Amino acid sequence: MLSDRVTFITKALIVVGPYLGRAAIRRVAAYGHSWTWRNTPDAKNIVVLGGSFAGTELVRGLTETLPTGNKVVWIEKHSHFNYIFNFPRYSVLKRHEQRAFIPYDFIATGAPLGILTSIQDEAIAITDAHVLLASGERIDYACLAIATGSTQPLPANVSCNKRSEACRELQGAQQTIEASPNIAVVGGGAVGVQLASDIKDFFPTKDVTLIHSRDRLMNRFGSRLQDYVLTALRDELKIRVLLNERPKLPVGGNFAQSTSLTFSDGHEEFDLVIGCIGQRPNSSLLKICYPDAISKENSRILVRPTLQVFSATNPTKNLPIFAFGDVADHSGPRMGRAGWTQAGVVLENILSTIQGQAASRRYVPDIFIEGAIKLTLGKTHLVFYAVENGEHGSDFLIPSRDGKLDLEAENAWKEYGVDFKQLWK
Ligand SMILES: Cc1cc2nc3c(=O)[nH]c(=O)nc-3n(C[C@H](O)[C@H](O)[C@H](O)COP(=O)(O)OP(=O)(O)OC[C@H]3O[C@@H](n4cnc5c(N)ncnc54)[C@H](O)[C@@H]3O)c2cc1C
Ligand SMILES: NC(=O)c1ccc[n+]([C@@H]2O[C@H](COP(=O)([O-])OP(=O)(O)OC[C@H]3O[C@@H](n4cnc5c(N)ncnc54)[C@H](OP(=O)(O)O)[C@@H]3O)[C@@H](O)[C@H]2O)c1
Repeated sequence: MLSDRVTFITKALIVVGPYLGRAAIRRVAAYGHSWTWRNTPDAKNIVVLGGSFAGTELVRGLTETLPTGNKVVWIEKHSHFNYIFNFPRYSVLKRHEQRAFIPYDFIATGAPLGILTSIQDEAIAITDAHVLLASGERIDYACLAIATGSTQPLPANVSCNKRSEACRELQGAQQTIEASPNIAVVGGGAVGVQLASDIKDFFPTKDVTLIHSRDRLMNRFGSRLQDYVLTALRDELKIRVLLNERPKLPVGGNFAQSTSLTFSDGHEEFDLVIGCIGQRPNSSLLKICYPDAISKENSRILVRPTLQVFSATNPTKNLPIFAFGDVADHSGPRMGRAGWTQAGVVLENILSTIQGQAASRRYVPDIFIEGAIKLTLGKTHLVFYAVENGEHGSDFLIPSRDGKLDLEAENAWKEYGVDFKQLWK
C-alpha cells in the first residue's frame, strides 16, 4: 500500500514538474499577448461550442494566443459552469448543490478587451460556414471547435440551463431519495457506484441494490479497483450487488418511483429506480451537413488523430472543424483531464490552420494522467486508481478514509480562479 503511494507520487512529480513550468511560461506569454492583440473590425470568428472541462480550457487558450485578425466566439447554453463531478453527491447530500455551479467570470480573466464574445444559447446545427442557434442567430466561423460533451440524466447531469432551476432539480433528487426506503441503482460504472455508496452511507437503514450488466463493477478499469469497489460496497456498506443483469429501465423518467424491474429470475418491486447507464454524445449538430462524421457505433464525432473532424465520404478533405472531449470518438478516456489535454492539441492545430498550415499536432493519450480516477465510496471513503502508460504498465491503488463531505468544492472554484464567496451572491 505504502509503496503504491510512494511510487505514484514519484511518478506524478515527474509529470507535474514540467507541467508547472509550461504553465508559468504560458502565463508570461499570455500577458505579452494581452498587450499586442488588436481588435479589428474584420476579425475572423474562431467559434467554440461548449463550456465544460474541454471547451473552457480551449477558450482560455485561444484568448491568450490568437493573432490579431481573429477573435473567439464562445457558445454555451448553461448560465454557470456545471461542476458535474459533484452532482451524484449533491443528489444525496442536502444544502450543497449551489457549490456545483461556478460563475463563468473566469473565462475572460486577463483576456484583451474584444477578443471574446460569449453567447448563452443552444447551437442546433452547423453548416460548412455557420453555426445556427436556437434563438435564430447565425454565427459564421473560420474555424470551429466542438466540445458539446454528452448528456446523461440525473444524477450525472441536470437538464436546466439556469443555476436556480438546476439547483431545484438536485433538491428534487435529494427529496425523492430521502423518501424512498428501497432503492435500485442501475449501472455499475463510476456514477452508479458513487451514487449507490452515497445513498447507503448517508441513509444506512435504506435497502440499496446496485445492478450491473457485466460480471464486474467498474468493468472499464483494472481488476484491483473492481475487487476493491465490490468489497467496499457489498461487504462494508451492505449494498446488495446484482451482476450480469441488464433490466430495462422503466419508461417515464430516470427517477421512476414505485416500479418494478425484470431480472433473469423474475420481477422485483422498488420504491425508486435510478438509471446510471452511461452517456449519450451531443453530436446531432452534425446531422444535416456532416452525417457521415457521426459514428454509427457510438454516436460520437469521428476525428483524426489531430482531433480534426473526419468525414467518411470525403476522407481527403481537411475540414476547419475540430471535436474533442466526451463528444469525440478519440482514443483517450472519457475524463475531464483528457478534455484539458485535448484542448491543448486543438489550440495548436487551430493556430496552424488559421495561418494556412496543416494541423499536425496529434493527440496521444497519457493514460496515467488522463485515465486516473478518484472514486468516492461513501461519505469519507475514497480510492484513487491509476495505470501506468504502456502495454504492461503497473497499476496504483491508493485508498483514503478522509474525503470531505462537500468534495472540496472550494478547491474547484479556486482552480478556476473564482472567489468562493460569490456562492452567496
Ligand atoms: C458524475 C461524474 C463525475 C465525474 N468525475 C470525474 C472526475 O472526478 N475526474 C475526471 O477527470 N472526470 C470525471 N468525470 C468525467 C468528466 O466529467 C467528463 O469527461 C467531462 O465532463 C467531459 O467534458 P466535456 O467538456 O467534453 O463535456 P461535458 O462536460 O459533457 O460538457 C459539454 C458542455 O457543452 C454544452 N453544450 C452541449 N450541447 C450544446 C449545444 N448544442 N449548444 C451549446 N452548448 C452545448 C453543455 O451545456 C456543457 O456545458 C465525471 C463524470 C460524471 C458524470
Ligand atoms: N470519479 C470519477 O472520475 C468519475 C465519476 C463518475 C463518472 N466518471 C466518468 O464519466 C463517464 C460516465 O460514467 P457512467 O458511470 O455514467 O457511465 P459508464 O462508465 O458507461 O457506466 C455505465 C454502466 O452501466 C451499464 N449498463 C447500461 N445499461 C444497463 C442496464 N440496463 N442494466 C445494468 N447495467 C447497465 C453499462 O454497461 P454496458 O457496457 O454493458 O452497457 C456501463 O458499464 C465514464 O467515463 C466515467 O469513468 C468518472
